[in-house]
Amino acid sequence: MSNLLASNLFSVQDRVAVITGGGSGLGRTMARALAVNGAAKVFVLGRRVNALEETATQSTPGVVIPVQCDVTSKESLEAAYKAVAEQTTHVDILFANGGVLGPLMRPSQKPDGTPPSLSELREELFSKPMEAFTDVLNVNVTGSYYTVLAFLPLLEAANKRRPAPQAGVLTPPTAQVVITSSIAGFIRKVPFSFAYNASKSATTHLVKMLATTLADYDIRVNGIAPGLYQSDMANHIFEDKGIEGSGVNEGSFPREMIPIRRSGSEEDFAGLIVWMASASGGYLNGAIMLTDGGRVSVVPNTY
Ligand SMILES: NC(=O)c1ccc[n+]([C@@H]2O[C@H](COP(=O)([O-])OP(=O)(O)OC[C@H]3O[C@@H](n4cnc5c(N)ncnc54)[C@H](OP(=O)(O)O)[C@@H]3O)[C@@H](O)[C@H]2O)c1
Repeated sequence: MSNLLASNLFSVQDRVAVITGGGSGLGRTMARALAVNGAAKVFVLGRRVNALEETATQSTPGVVIPVQCDVTSKESLEAAYKAVAEQTTHVDILFANGGVLGPLMRPSQKPDGTPPSLSELREELFSKPMEAFTDVLNVNVTGSYYTVLAFLPLLEAANKRRPAPQAGVLTPPTAQVVITSSIAGFIRKVPFSFAYNASKSATTHLVKMLATTLADYDIRVNGIAPGLYQSDMANHIFEDKGIEGSGVNEGSFPREMIPIRRSGSEEDFAGLIVWMASASGGYLNGAIMLTDGGRVSVVPNTY
């Protein structure tokens, strides 16, 4: 029964990964989790080289390789692809994870909690430049899409390394893309921003579209929809709620906001990543993994 041992089921030994947004937050956790569990190479991509280097410093020595990249530029993606291709023959798993929140785009409530008048609402939202909206779509949707396109040859090369199928023996998983979406793409009660929420809905649909198209090439595409995890992007929520630290203690958040009453931990996220990247994640395709303490799926109890 050794095939059912956790050490076999969840092994990411010798995997090669590329992670955009690997210089901070969830992308850094992805890199550290894969590196400490035996991945051969983890390329971390982002605009800030010092942040990428910090991820490498915090990870198993020699595994994490920083590559500067702006996912909104095809030239930059092409240069990053070439830099990665010079250092590996293949990529088993690509995380299109980089993203931005952009300016908050939501109507401000009055001090007594009532909504603004319709003309106040119009003024507040219409006064924002269109670029504030399109810049968010540009990184989160267009950037993710072109990231996947850029790395297709190295994903195909990973498939070519798979051993020939043998009767009764499970072949190692096919190459995989994982795009980071958000629960903001599912529910309207996460009141970040029209642009961010719309971008994450689009990202979720991109997972389905790409999974459908790339199935013909044996490249799987899945998504992750996190709820609340502490990161640079999410810090303002912790500040708003007066929460110091990572908020992982139960009771940090009210049940009406997060049914499990805490934020997601590094362990919650690392476990998900290792599972998805391992052989036992090999049957996932076109799936969106919710990791949100129940925010999307749990409805308040009414007796
Ligand atoms: N934390 C949460 O609670 C939460 C919840 C739902 C979804 N998410 C999603 O999780 C992903 C990671 O966010 P995070 O929470 O870890 O926040 P974060 O620490 O702010 O990470 C965002 C990362 O995206 C990278 N990035 C932004 N623009 C980029 C560009 N043009 N080119 C390349 N990289 C770019 C940033 O690196 P550079 O600035 O160096 O380029 C940064 O490392 C995002 O897609 C976010 O929407 C997070």
